[in-house]
Amino acid sequence: MRFYVKTGDVFKEQTDLAIVFAVEKAELPEKLSGLFLADDFSGKAKQTLLIYPRNAATPSRVLLIGIGEADKANPDTFRNAAAVAIKEALRLKAAQVAMGAVAETAVDEQALSQAIVEGAVLGSYRFLEYKTDLKEEDTFEVKKVELFSKDAGKAEKGLEEALAVVAGVTLARNLINKPGADITPARLGEEAEALAKRVGIKATVFCMKELKEQGFGGIISIGKASANEPRFIILEYGEPSDNVPTVVLVGKGISFDSGGLSLKPADGMMTMKGDMGGAATVLGTMEAVARLKLPLHLVGLIPSAENMPGPNAVRPGDIVKSLSGKNMEILNTDAEGRVILADAIYYAHRYNPSAIINFATLTGAMIIALGYHATGLMSTDEELTEKIVAAGEQSAERVWELPLWQEYQEMIKSDIADVKNVAGRPAGSITAGAFLAAFAGDFPFAHLDIAATSWLETPIKAYHHKGATGVGVRMMVELLKEYK
Ligand code: BES
Ligand code: ZN
Ligand code: ZN
Repeated sequence: MRFYVKTGDVFKEQTDLAIVFAVEKAELPEKLSGLFLADDFSGKAKQTLLIYPRNAATPSRVLLIGIGEADKANPDTFRNAAAVAIKEALRLKAAQVAMGAVAETAVDEQALSQAIVEGAVLGSYRFLEYKTDLKEEDTFEVKKVELFSKDAGKAEKGLEEALAVVAGVTLARNLINKPGADITPARLGEEAEALAKRVGIKATVFCMKELKEQGFGGIISIGKASANEPRFIILEYGEPSDNVPTVVLVGKGISFDSGGLSLKPADGMMTMKGDMGGAATVLGTMEAVARLKLPLHLVGLIPSAENMPGPNAVRPGDIVKSLSGKNMEILNTDAEGRVILADAIYYAHRYNPSAIINFATLTGAMIIALGYHATGLMSTDEELTEKIVAAGEQSAERVWELPLWQEYQEMIKSDIADVKNVAGRPAGSITAGAFLAAFAGDFPFAHLDIAATSWLETPIKAYHHKGATGVGVRMMVELLKEYK
């Protein structure tokens, strides 16, 4: 899909399909309103009407897409509407499309074009790599999209940002949707190296030998039962400097979570190839940030392991020394994410970062707490919390804070070691967050539990699809583009 910014009249454009964003209760230009019965289209959000203007306008077809009332419209309204419209374009096999809004809303021209491009690309996302019997309609693509804007300069900027962001989101979605057998820790390392080459950043991958030499006890304990050996992946964009902040992103990279000896039931395992969703968010964010050349020093750390049962598996009751030196009592091998993340979060200290931000599909309890509509945030720093919540609102990847009070810290104290990896069912997401925070030292720390939002059986937004959402990448770009 190639995008071109244009100014002028979308109805004079020779194209297969003109997509017109229409506001509820607002008058449409007469050449359009005369072509259908008023009752057929009111402009409420996501409503569509296809019309064939014949001689009244140049496009062969016009698709009206409602965005609801003007004063309620925000970028996500347009992201959704563009996704609905692009799916119509695919259905109609319209190879060339022009898009334009016909009424004013409060959304500024840059945010508008960014949202429309994101909606169009993410809405037409398909994961076809493993299909061998593809029909023409499965692979048909919209080749050219002309974006009509009143301010070409702003629209170009929005387009540029959107293309970087969707590259990151698409990378994240693809990695998550691939089977666990194909995205092993080693493969994840190779994907990170390929990304680094593609966008000109640094990548380092530690194998078992380095993990042992340096004392990554958490990662080794979870990864040692699998034939697919664990890895620790380091990505670095930019360099430390007095002029830019250093931010470290950490992402849970469990390539498959069987639960280990504390084996999951079959149903609970079905989506566990997606347990590297946090790693995917980190890789996707690195891709977008590098493409946008944002002014910052950004480090991505990914502990990656396959959590399997086996003769060499970590046992419930085992005590494991983490990279930090703290001893972790493993009481349930299915609470493996926090065990590998402990090493990575401690490793982040060496960058002296102004923030450590962790992404993980960490707890099923997150689905119980907030459903599929928000990512849970647990943080030790109020300012960082405010920034993340704001970025979540702005990007429509919503985040909701849960407390990390001292009382929760008490709950993860072990009787015989320093910390234990489970503390019962009460506040299951928070005690997991408290466990991670115990390894963050005094650095401002935020943990985002994306267990509910990284994978959807039933899509929520029009730009979602069954499977991976790529959540976190858009939110992080929003956060990092003005990070001080
Ligand atoms: N990867 C799971 C969490 C998860 C569950 C993610 C469902 C996405 C959907 C995690 O490793 C896990 O198994 N957590 C346990 C923790 C428990 C043993 C304290 C859980 O949530 O049940
Ligand atoms: Zn688990
Ligand atoms: Zn897991």
